[in-house]
Amino acid sequence: PVRMTFYEAVGGEEFFTRLVGRFYEGVAQDEELRAMYPEEDLGPAEERLRLFLIQYWGGPRTYNEQRGHPRLRMRHVPFRIGTHERDLWLKHMRTAVDSVELPEPLERQLWEYMVMAAHSMVNVPGET
Ligand code: HEM
Repeated sequence: PVRMTFYEAVGGEEFFTRLVGRFYEGVAQDEELRAMYPEEDLGPAEERLRLFLIQYWGGPRTYNEQRGHPRLRMRHVPFRIGTHERDLWLKHMRTAVDSVELPEPLERQLWEYMVMAAHSMVNVPGET
């Protein structure tokens, strides 16, 4: 039997555009998190997260074509990500996930991944 990818199940690219758009609306209004982003324009960062998630969940591999292998932990080394920053990130992602109104078990699957990924990005010694 042919199984659908998560990407197909949620309706493809449009879903990720909405999710990440909503997430970055939160980041833009969060002084502390916003200050971590080096560029004045959040647009390029939004596009990179959008393409990464599309690829991760089984969609087109445009992220790799444009950026190479994700190596996300390495790419986050320049930023001080402690438990506090992780929790801010997750708070805005929670709002974004709520806003897209996915049915279970898709919502649970997406959220569990976000929690795991955010925990894995913490890079302050002694914080986990
Ligand atoms: C890039 C912050 C977690 C995916 C970035 C950037 C910052 C940042 C400041 C640079 C912005 C830019 O690309 O211009 C954070 C913080 C996190 C976090 C504070 C808290 C835990 C995550 C997680 C994911 C993720 C969990 C994936 C699920 C990405 C991607 C990029 C990025 C794909 C662009 C990488 C590239 O191609 O250069 N993040 N991030 N981040 N982040 Fe995060």
